[in-house]
Amino acid sequence: SCTLVTLSTGQNMPIVGLGTWKSAPGQVKQAVLSALDCGYRHIDCAAAYGNEHEVGEALKERVGPDKALRREDVFVTSKLWNTQHHPDDVEPACKKSLTDLGLSYLDLYLMHWPMAFQRGAEVMPRNADGTIRYGYTHYRDTWKAMEVLVEQGLVKAIGLSNFNARQVDDILSIAKHKPVVNQVECHPYLIQAQLLSHCRDRGVMMTAYSPLGSPDRPWAAPGEPQLLDDPRVFSIASRYGKTPAQVIIRWQVQRGVICIPKSVTPSRIQQNIQVFDFNLSNEDMKQIESFNRNERLIIPTIEKDGKKVWRDAA
Ligand code: A2P
Repeated sequence: SCTLVTLSTGQNMPIVGLGTWKSAPGQVKQAVLSALDCGYRHIDCAAAYGNEHEVGEALKERVGPDKALRREDVFVTSKLWNTQHHPDDVEPACKKSLTDLGLSYLDLYLMHWPMAFQRGAEVMPRNADGTIRYGYTHYRDTWKAMEVLVEQGLVKAIGLSNFNARQVDDILSIAKHKPVVNQVECHPYLIQAQLLSHCRDRGVMMTAYSPLGSPDRPWAAPGEPQLLDDPRVFSIASRYGKTPAQVIIRWQVQRGVICIPKSVTPSRIQQNIQVFDFNLSNEDMKQIESFNRNERLIIPTIEKDGKKVWRDAA
């Protein structure tokens, strides 16, 4: 069964969870049901993924007094979107996620990104020239509003996503409720060794998103080599009789990083949590670290016509 990590609040969090970014409505309910049925007890969600209502339908079928699982058996994370950083927007945003997920509390609520966007209903508010329209709320003020959610009992813990080391320290310097995790892109091509030890030294766990290198990222160029196809990963995997995905997830587990592989395919969902029956040698752990090339695949902005634009606009 899945290893648990202990957060600074004392909560136990399963080290492997199901990712739901890019899981289409029409697929994600089945994915969550498959995951819960094969032993997942941790689901990673976000308002911005546009599918929390459907994740909620799956939770409703499996979690409750007359269902297979108790609420306290599952660890559910959601995230506050960038358009809702204004302190007045934080509680309504959290309540919307709770309603969509059909829950009375979240185990963990993350600030999805450090930067605020223009308030309002537009998920990706833009200026006339296509650049993102940012807002003026500082993430410290957003954090203060998120702390109130803990006190209201709407969330058991709060945390960060996409924060760098300096920003983590900035939050720690003002926090009454400490961030329990920082969720960032992390995989063998972006091992995040410095950020990991920085967070760990401060009692902040790291969660790896896109742990498999997100081969389904919307902007992957056709034919671009994928992490899961790396022959070096394949060669390690074949020595253990495991798949490349299992080896990559196991590597994160052994370095104490929480990992949320996304899949909507039942056999892969199952495969991705079967990582607790083998151990990678220190040598293989080191070899995987050596694949690092500080390559960020999920980079939000790129240069276009000399301007910084949000990547989906390119
Ligand atoms: P699918 O959802 O169609 O099964 P990441 O978690 O890094 O974002 O990666 C998610 C992508 O990796 C999805 O395209 C998913 O496909 C694919 N994937 C997930 N698990 C596996 C696996 N065990 N083997 C191969 N591909 C996988």
